[in-house]
Amino acid sequence: MFDPSLVALRGPLDPNLIDLGYGYPDPALLPVEAMQRASAEALRRFGSNMLSYGANAGPTPLLDWLRVRLGGYDGRTPAPDEVMTTPGNSGALDQLLTLFTQPGDVILVESPTYHLAIRVMRDRPLELATVAADEGGLRPDALDEAISRCMHNGKCARALYCVPTFNNPTGASLDLARRKAIVDIAARAGILIFEDDVYRELTYDAPAPPSLWSLDERGVVLRMGSFSKTLATGLRVGWLTAHRDHIQRIVDGGLLDSGGGHNHFAACVVAALCESGEYETQVDKLRAAYRERRDALLDALQAHLPAGCVVRRPGGGFFVWIELPDGTNTARLLLTAEAHGMSFLPGSRFFLDGGGEDALRLCFTLYAPEALAAAASRLGNALRATPAQNV
Ligand SMILES: Cc1ncc(COP(=O)(O)O)c(C=O)c1O
Repeated sequence: MFDPSLVALRGPLDPNLIDLGYGYPDPALLPVEAMQRASAEALRRFGSNMLSYGANAGPTPLLDWLRVRLGGYDGRTPAPDEVMTTPGNSGALDQLLTLFTQPGDVILVESPTYHLAIRVMRDRPLELATVAADEGGLRPDALDEAISRCMHNGKCARALYCVPTFNNPTGASLDLARRKAIVDIAARAGILIFEDDVYRELTYDAPAPPSLWSLDERGVVLRMGSFSKTLATGLRVGWLTAHRDHIQRIVDGGLLDSGGGHNHFAACVVAALCESGEYETQVDKLRAAYRERRDALLDALQAHLPAGCVVRRPGGGFFVWIELPDGTNTARLLLTAEAHGMSFLPGSRFFLDGGGEDALRLCFTLYAPEALAAAASRLGNALRATPAQNV
């Protein structure tokens, strides 16, 4: 008998371990029936066109729907030639690196940042340089300094990669003043911003702040969005909004010229699902479930963690970031935590070159509230079992 789990990248395997290290959605919340309906409807409607090479920029019904949707929850509506589909944010970043960087360029990377974006960038002959962040996210003064440092060393800073809204791993969102300052600094320095906007729709308290892209009149920002977090990671469908010249460059590039639009079949299914109204229903369901899970985890952390731990409250996204009292090394704490039946990702994973050794990231989307509360209690026990200076 065929084991259906063999088609998927595996998540947590040990039933005795509550693993808050994986940044995955809960499989029980994925829209299986809605996808069945959307696939049938898309095939009925698009027929053999759905099985052909797709238009390079993506299927028009999806692009039209995206423009209206983005106009409703971001600072401005993209024009028809300012948006295209992508294979999700991982593939979009890879493609931006292909077309907008040269070997030896410096890419500025906020720290901490999404650890697997670092992997994508390190696959290239690029130099990565840190830009520091604080509780409010990426610091404009640190961006200024990083650009000056590059110039001083005779290097070319080509782009900044950042996650300014519901950051992975910290959950921080930049306020409007920082957003404007960062776009201005990049424009003055002549560098691009690769804005990773993957969590925008998963907001639990208030509307997300406007994207950097929506504040940019000068073609500085290329904003990557994705259906991974709101519909399903397996679709590999996302989108990019950027100046029409940047979009044109990608649409005319060799990859799309040869293969047609990214993941055309899946993009057509997403178009049908979005047009049916089921996207809205799914996002509402996820927001309610994830808000409840975030709150359950935060309450339990407050009840179970020893004094001195600083827990950041995220307004959206997937993650809670915790800073532990001085001297606590979370890479070593992980062994004790796993012996107590829970797991997490140590903070150092999210830095380029040192930092975050006393911090950790918890994901609150994969497990139900009861399991999250149990994980927080186990983490508290692990911390009490290993005093800071010995951890
Ligand atoms: C900040 C960030 N960017 C990108 C991704 C991956 O996005 P996609 O599935 O669209 O490639 C993730 C997934 O965890 C993420 O947290």
